[in-house]
Amino acid sequence: MTQLMEIINEAGRNGVAIGHFNIADLVLLKGVFEAAQELKLPVIVGASEGEREFAGTEQLAALVKSLRDEFDYPIFLNADHTHSLASAMEAVKAGFDSVVFDLSALPIKENTLSTKQAVEALKSVNPAVVVEGEIGDIGSGSEIHADALAPDCALTTPRALTTPEEARQFVTETKVDVLAPAVGNSHGMRPNMVAGKARKHLAIERIREIKSAVAIPLTLHGGSGTADEDLRQAIRAGINIVHINTELRLAWKQGLETGLAHSGDEIAPYRILPPAVAAVHDVVSARLRLFTNR
Ligand code: G3H
Ligand code: ZN
Repeated sequence: MTQLMEIINEAGRNGVAIGHFNIADLVLLKGVFEAAQELKLPVIVGASEGEREFAGTEQLAALVKSLRDEFDYPIFLNADHTHSLASAMEAVKAGFDSVVFDLSALPIKENTLSTKQAVEALKSVNPAVVVEGEIGDIGSGSEIHADALAPDCALTTPRALTTPEEARQFVTETKVDVLAPAVGNSHGMRPNMVAGKARKHLAIERIREIKSAVAIPLTLHGGSGTADEDLRQAIRAGINIVHINTELRLAWKQGLETGLAHSGDEIAPYRILPPAVAAVHDVVSARLRLFTNR
């Protein structure tokens, strides 16, 4: 089976991005996998520390491996937003293909030093593991944030963009395989985005500048609620992986509510849950088509 890094590089050569979708249960995993399979596209499923705590690190690794083996399918597993080396190690030892080592809340000097150490330590366990580093503030939480957007869709607290020089220095010193910069993106959605009245916008020119400064794959976090055209342009400018979580969580909950509303006296989970799988599937399918120009 092809390694994740080769798949990421191939996406870059083809001018498309790989979709990364967060999972915390079988409904999400099923919805993501079925959508990717239909489109015959490689896919990354991710689990943050909270999602791993719920579903089980070893259990997630076993589930994803079983799909990869049974269907001979390029599905990969990422330890998303991992804040300590111990937690990253646990995931790599369990067989995760990649780690987002996220110390972006620390001053950049400390982030750089600890990320460099993490890259060395994690690759000593599995040289093929893909390590992504993160710089800049893109907010936390794949949630519906209460604060509204200004009419021009700028965040109420504007976040600083990663500079090309910062990116170059961080990548050179840490030797990360992939970089997640702050380029106008932010985690989560606002109520007006959920209502379809606002979209996130990205600093496309800055993505281009960072890409030419680092020449490694770039990840866009906080993909939910981003305008389609901005995503297309961001991928053209050098984004190779796009993370989507909040949109899936919303779909999961709405699908579950639909399933329950129509369940009557039904109590079999496998007869109640299909609308949740379908709702997740539809979000993933639409996003994957967009990321690959289909
Ligand atoms: O790592 C996860 C993502 O960056 C998801 O962000 O919830 O805004 O889609 P999102
Ligand atoms: Zn993220």
